[in-house]
Amino acid sequence: MIEEKKLIDSALEEIDKKIGVVESDYYRPVFHIAPKVGLLNDPNGFVFFNGYYHLFYQWHPFSTNHGLKYWYHLRSKDLVNWEDLRVGLVPANWYESHGCYSGSAIEYNDEMRIFYTGNVKNSEGNRESYQCMASSKDGINIEKNMQNPIIKSQPKGYTAHFRDPKVWKENNLFYMLLGAQTDDLEGRVLLYRSENLRDWELVGVVSGSNINGNKAMGYMWECPDLFSIGDKDVLITCPQGIKEQDILYNNRYQAGYFTGKLDYRTGAMEHGSFNELDRGFEFYAPQSCEDYSSRRVMYGWMGMPEEEEQPTKDFGWMHMLTLPRILELKEEKLYQRVPKELEKLRKEKVSVENVDINNCEMTLENFYGDVYELILEFDIEESQDIGIKLRCSADDSEYTLLNFSSKTNLFTVDRTSSGKYLGGKRQCKLNISNKLKLQIFSDRSSLEIFINDGEEVFTLRIFPSIESKNIRFIAKDNKVQLNKATLWTY
Ligand code: FRU
Repeated sequence: MIEEKKLIDSALEEIDKKIGVVESDYYRPVFHIAPKVGLLNDPNGFVFFNGYYHLFYQWHPFSTNHGLKYWYHLRSKDLVNWEDLRVGLVPANWYESHGCYSGSAIEYNDEMRIFYTGNVKNSEGNRESYQCMASSKDGINIEKNMQNPIIKSQPKGYTAHFRDPKVWKENNLFYMLLGAQTDDLEGRVLLYRSENLRDWELVGVVSGSNINGNKAMGYMWECPDLFSIGDKDVLITCPQGIKEQDILYNNRYQAGYFTGKLDYRTGAMEHGSFNELDRGFEFYAPQSCEDYSSRRVMYGWMGMPEEEEQPTKDFGWMHMLTLPRILELKEEKLYQRVPKELEKLRKEKVSVENVDINNCEMTLENFYGDVYELILEFDIEESQDIGIKLRCSADDSEYTLLNFSSKTNLFTVDRTSSGKYLGGKRQCKLNISNKLKLQIFSDRSSLEIFINDGEEVFTLRIFPSIESKNIRFIAKDNKVQLNKATLWTY
């Protein structure tokens, strides 16, 4: 316990010491969750408990690298205003000596129960993974279970890459998914079962690389999540090691989902093909929970493992979470939209209707900024090409370019000229339609672009200059009808 107090105190000291510098960074978001200090990665322990959304994140307080991981704790009644509950879990015990890794939470007997992976590097330098439990009666003070670890090792045939428990209840039994790797270096998701949350038995393999109709899909599957919407089950997972295929899988690691049906007796899931959840650059390790109104809400990490070169490093912090997204299933496809609660963030409004963009590049009066929600609705005809430059400098040399071509149905986000550090281009094909609706959230150093009411989303970090705040509309060699444009400052 002394050890625990020391670990908490030193993290809190780190916040006190550096918060001034961290908050002086122009790239700090205004309406996203970012670490007080240090590095943030996966959202963890997301649960609706006693009237609050509780959300934790993987946290390394002492530097902007992936070091000794803690959980940082926040809670909110509305997904907009978050209260800091500071340190959630600290790696104080032998079974978590090298970090409290990712996990989830549920409500059980009026308590919040937390499940996570204790990461250990043993004296030979080898990895050991322990699945652990903690609980909280008041949702503030958290105690680790005396019987930890509750799963002491990976099953036979698997390596110690065995982590990220996601727990839920189904028909009076508890189930846990775990990300895993076989001895042959194939990624897997495993299903465990328990009657009491303490004793767990392996049910079987849910899915993985080169099984269940999947092709080679990587050497490790991290951060699994599973839930049902209507009569379908959705499995989310983050495979590492999928080869890029044209416009698909262009990021270092992937975050995506399968739709199908889980057999709770065998653990096997019958499912369709793997789909990327987000088409942008920085989106990983998402986690969802069901809230009081039966909505399935998901947060993602707006980052990517091994992407550690960003200018915010000089100000002592790194990465942030995405906005919350409500998930809905239409046939086999997940749609993502932001919850209505975010409208509370809206301040000043500018709006125009029926603008012809006729073979030109133009701006609209008062459409300008770096912290806003922008909604654009276009009419689309055949052979049209629409461009939008966001965070554009006065001399037009710096910008993030969005483009949609109705000839190919390809939507492109190009950050080659976006600013410091990050570059590249991402694309995806949209369903054919005669409308294009974009809902764009800009928050200093991030963009989230929701297309056609959540059909696709592009999430990315950008590091433009402070002065680059113009928005430009482009129609080259054609005329484009912008039916409506609305900008809300946030
Ligand atoms: C995903 C991940 C998880 C792990 C955590 C450690 O980003 O690698 O698998 O639990 O990060 O911080």
